[in-house]
Amino acid sequence: MENILVIGAAGQIGSELVIELRKRFGGPQVFATDIKQASEDVVIGGPFEILDVLDSNRLIHFVIRHKITQIYHLAAVLSGNAEKIPLQAWEINMRSLMNILELAKEVDAIKKVFWPSSIAVFGPSTPRFNTPQYTITEPNTVYGISKLAGERWIEYYYNRYGVDVRSIRYPGLISYKTEAGGGTTDYAVEIFFDAVREGKYTSFLSEGSKLPMMFMEDAIKATIDLMEADEENLSIHSSYNVAGISFDPQELADEIKKHIPEFEIDYKPDFRQAIADSWPASIEDSVAKADWGLNYKYGLSELTEVMLEGVRKKLG
Ligand code: SER
Repeated sequence: MENILVIGAAGQIGSELVIELRKRFGGPQVFATDIKQASEDVVIGGPFEILDVLDSNRLIHFVIRHKITQIYHLAAVLSGNAEKIPLQAWEINMRSLMNILELAKEVDAIKKVFWPSSIAVFGPSTPRFNTPQYTITEPNTVYGISKLAGERWIEYYYNRYGVDVRSIRYPGLISYKTEAGGGTTDYAVEIFFDAVREGKYTSFLSEGSKLPMMFMEDAIKATIDLMEADEENLSIHSSYNVAGISFDPQELADEIKKHIPEFEIDYKPDFRQAIADSWPASIEDSVAKADWGLNYKYGLSELTEVMLEGVRKKLG
């Protein structure tokens, strides 16, 4: 029997991952935690506790008390926010990961860990289109540097201590249940809320800023598929490229206009433009497809339809 700990259960990924894990493994088996209160469906569907991943003493007691066998560590400061508080972001992103890696090394019952990496590990010197799995990684953001360092550490723990950590370089994630916070790809979430609420959106990225993106349902499925894959099929112990779909703000706005003809977009790029410019426009993900069968359901038109429907429901 699996007992699964999710750290960051109130966040954009965690709030949906917990629900899906509980469907598969049972409500009481999935322990949702965060430093802030989670959404109601996370709290009522199974155990939820306030827990700070930086508090290593409490963390180890929690893991032993609940006989945890798998950890999904999702807590992080995202790219935009990290630029405002570089040293704190580094401290939070790295120390939380090191706490989890040490825990997984010391506690035999923990068989697997998931930790997300990001397209942010790439930088301005990386080939921008069809970015390969193995390529130049010279990130110039605090968030990207922390993700790249994290990738090196998880591979180190795998090789040196046999800690089975699995990871995806997520593209921008799009969802309506919980809004993202402080990321560069967040425009692709905000645009839907503003489209429904106001019929217009001011984008903080320029019209041609093409970035890889993915609908949350596809991301959750990919994450669990990777965690369920046989270890011997996995050739990457840093983090897997996952492409999703690539589009820019203008293409997304055009798609929204098919549903809301009067929708208008204008552009006021801010400091996040430089971050977006340093990231790939599209990703090559054949290794993930070959190793663990990565696949997608949502293209741009499906994603737009489901997002508009979801946001309308959420806003009542
Ligand atoms: N979506 C994240 C961000 O924009 C990238 O991993 O920060």
